[in-house]
Amino acid sequence: MEAGMGRDAAEITTKVLVTTDLMGVSTHGVRNLHNYLKRIATKGLDPHARPEIVSEGPGWAIVDGHNGMAMPSAYLAMQTAIDKAGQVGIAYAGARNSCHFGAAGFYALMAAEEGMIGLSMSNDIPSMTAPGARSHITGTNPLAVAIPAGEEKPILLDVAMSTVAGSKIYQALARGKGIPDNWIVDGEGIPTTDTSVYPHSASLLPMAGHKGYGLALMIETLSALVSGANCLTEVGSWLFDKTERPTGHGHAFIAINVGVIAPMDVYRRRADDMIRSIRRAPKAKGSERIYLPGEMEWDKRVDYEANGIPLTEDIIKSLTEIAETYGLDLGEVNSELANR
Ligand SMILES: NC(=O)c1ccc[n+]([C@@H]2O[C@H](COP(=O)([O-])OP(=O)(O)OC[C@H]3O[C@@H](n4cnc5c(N)ncnc54)[C@H](O)[C@@H]3O)[C@@H](O)[C@H]2O)c1
Repeated sequence: MEAGMGRDAAEITTKVLVTTDLMGVSTHGVRNLHNYLKRIATKGLDPHARPEIVSEGPGWAIVDGHNGMAMPSAYLAMQTAIDKAGQVGIAYAGARNSCHFGAAGFYALMAAEEGMIGLSMSNDIPSMTAPGARSHITGTNPLAVAIPAGEEKPILLDVAMSTVAGSKIYQALARGKGIPDNWIVDGEGIPTTDTSVYPHSASLLPMAGHKGYGLALMIETLSALVSGANCLTEVGSWLFDKTERPTGHGHAFIAINVGVIAPMDVYRRRADDMIRSIRRAPKAKGSERIYLPGEMEWDKRVDYEANGIPLTEDIIKSLTEIAETYGLDLGEVNSELANR
């Protein structure tokens, strides 16, 4: 709010970032706040922008983010898809003139919380290569699918189409940790473990080769071609571009209202049965547990809700610097830290 955002938009953004940390996805939580604030400072992101539904039909809508913070646009688009799916069974909402929306999983879960299957996806500045290519072709284009169950927690798959998200390379670099040789290729298209060359002269490898590349194109299509957002190299860098040029990211959200298609009580019982049968399946040698997608994150959420979210030193430093820049009182936080 000190940087100019309205209370509603700031609250949604906070909820997205903190919930992401609460699920243990620390690469996409409050650690990125300083990057979003930098874009506001360089006028590449308008803190006053209000996302708006600019066109719609019974089962679809397009949200224009007017180059503001992405989270309020993504939230409005997913909520609109959920509302419309409530009426017609299944709905799509695209968003354009947006920015980096954080973790895709938050928005997909919004649908699961309403008993719907949720899909959430986004394009991003190209940083991923394609089979046969030497450099960047598509973004890492995250895709999240949230599947509601009955007594069990929703299944939540939330993945980039690259072997790993680009932020994991930055995290490894910041923490002085090595990376395996199947995460990135250098400027010649040859696998490398040198994190310092990413992203300027290295590209992320797509997950499962041509399969991740193909899915990234589906995400690009639904996020950009259908919504009217920037596509491939038209998308700007939310991290490195210090100009006033908006990034123009696009997103896509789909909500499937299972209850109007199948009897909901039967669906929920069968979803629980599916989850439990997977859990009971014979374990690989040396393995004690088979996880459902999202289960590690739900476990973390239970732990963090009870014990607090652990923040690494680099995140604490970044939040402290933000507080100093904007003249915020960190009194309560500091006394908590002092008591550690
Ligand atoms: N906004 C963007 O432009 C952008 C771009 C890329 C990634 N991201 C975000 O980055 C985050 C991390 O992406 P990632 O590709 O590094 O994810 P990842 O490779 O860490 O995979 C995480 C997902 O896989 C599941 N999973 C992990 N191990 C599992 C196991 N053994 N069994 C079953 N499921 C398992 C997790 O529950 C989770 O759903 C995501 O939240 C994604 O949305 C955002």
